[in-house]
Amino acid sequence: MVIVYESKTGFTKRYAEMLAAKASLPAFRVQERSKIDPDQEILFLGWMKVGKIQGLSKMRKHNVIAVCGSGTAAIAEPSPEVVIRRNKIEGVPFFYLRGGCHPLSEIKGIDKFMLSLFIKMLKSRKDQDEKTKESISIIENGFDGVEAENLGPVTEWLSAR
Ligand SMILES: Cc1cc2nc3c(=O)[nH]c(=O)nc-3n(C[C@H](O)[C@H](O)[C@H](O)COP(=O)(O)O)c2cc1C
Repeated sequence: MVIVYESKTGFTKRYAEMLAAKASLPAFRVQERSKIDPDQEILFLGWMKVGKIQGLSKMRKHNVIAVCGSGTAAIAEPSPEVVIRRNKIEGVPFFYLRGGCHPLSEIKGIDKFMLSLFIKMLKSRKDQDEKTKESISIIENGFDGVEAENLGPVTEWLSAR
C-alpha cells in the first residue's frame, strides 16, 4: 500500500507524512501518480473544497481502497454521507480529518473569493449561533486543527487489515 495526497496549503500533507511515518508507507503527491503501479493499493488523502475531495478524480484509474478528506470543520461538513455521494466513493472507507486554514488575508485567487462569499453569507445570518461565530473566526484568523490523535480511526482501519 502507498499513500497519495493532495494538499494546497500544507495541512493534509502533514497528515500524509504522519501516517507515512506511523505505518511505514511511502507517500506521493497526486502529481507523482505516474510512478505508482495501477494495481498498487492506495490510501488517499485530499483537502475538501465544498465537499469535493481535491485530487481524487485524478486517481480513478488507480486502486484507491480508502479515502481521507481534510477540512476545517470540527466534524465533517458536509456530512460524510454527502461527501461520499459527491465524490462517488460509495463502498470505500471514508475518514474525515480536521485540517486547518491560513488567515483569509493570506489566501489568494478564487479560494479567497469563495471564502469571502462564504463569510458574507455566515455574517448575514440573523441567528449567529456559536458554530457560525467559530466558522467566521476560523476563516478570518486561521486555524490549525492537525492532531496525531485525529488519525486514530485510520490507523485502526490500517491495523485491522
Ligand atoms: C474554497 C474553499 C472551500 C472549502 N470547503 C470546505 C468544506 O466544504 N468543508 C470543510 O470542512 N473545509 C473546507 N475548506 C477548508 C479546507 O478544506 C481546509 O482548510 C483543508 O484542511 C486545507 O488543506 P490543505 O492545507 O492540505 O490544502 C475549504 C477551503 C476553501 C479555500
